[in-house]
Amino acid sequence: MERLNEYLFAARKDYEKDELTEEKIHPNPFNQFENWFQEVVNSKMEEPYAFTLATCTKEGKPSARILLLRKMTEQEGFVFFTNYFSRKGQEIQENPYGAMLFYWHELERQVRIEGRIQKLSEAYSDEYFTSRPRLSQISALISPQSKKIPNRQYLEEEIKKWEKIEVLKRPNFWGGYQLIPNYFEFWQGRKSRLHDRIVYEWLDNQWRISRLAP
Ligand SMILES: Cc1cc2nc3c(=O)[nH]c(=O)nc-3n(C[C@H](O)[C@H](O)[C@H](O)COP(=O)(O)O)c2cc1C
Repeated sequence: MERLNEYLFAARKDYEKDELTEEKIHPNPFNQFENWFQEVVNSKMEEPYAFTLATCTKEGKPSARILLLRKMTEQEGFVFFTNYFSRKGQEIQENPYGAMLFYWHELERQVRIEGRIQKLSEAYSDEYFTSRPRLSQISALISPQSKKIPNRQYLEEEIKKWEKIEVLKRPNFWGGYQLIPNYFEFWQGRKSRLHDRIVYEWLDNQWRISRLAP
């Protein structure tokens, strides 16, 4: 482990690809997110729609994992799909607040989003489930996500049971969530650790913009 630790101790990278100024940002954080998202798509970074979601138990014990963003609008917030009985699903049920994090290393940017999480409508989840490839549908049906299983073979056997069924219906334990943000932070890496951090907070029915120290 010595080599690893020498490497970690010495690793340094300066960030100098861009800057974020109050003049440059969009007054609406959803539009600002859209602008940055378009730029990261243009940068050809793989899976820029992957983000880390942190949730907490009702006692405040946190956990985090990566998910895929499936939709983002000002009305519906940030939409993702998962198993409602998974660890995250249970945590969201007992404590409906979450934090999302996008790290776009190609552009030396991170975006932090915080807010309340709620289930999407059944109709919307049905529509998305139907649009998924058949094997993804079967995986959602057979996987007791986050539960202990005896071995890999258990999953393979379960898949066989469903392969013959023609039309697959969304199970009630799988579907979408929407995180409705009340906080955004856009972070742009800068030289010598003097990064730009612009925050939007939803206060008195409007987005208030401020700058944080790096
Ligand atoms: C790139 C990537 C994308 C993922 N996308 C999803 C997703 O959209 N939905 C999902 O339930 N899990 C997704 N996962 C798996 C989750 O990270 C996690 O293992 C799973 O949801 C169980 O988390 P939990 O036990 O905290 O509930 C993804 C993992 C990676 C690495």
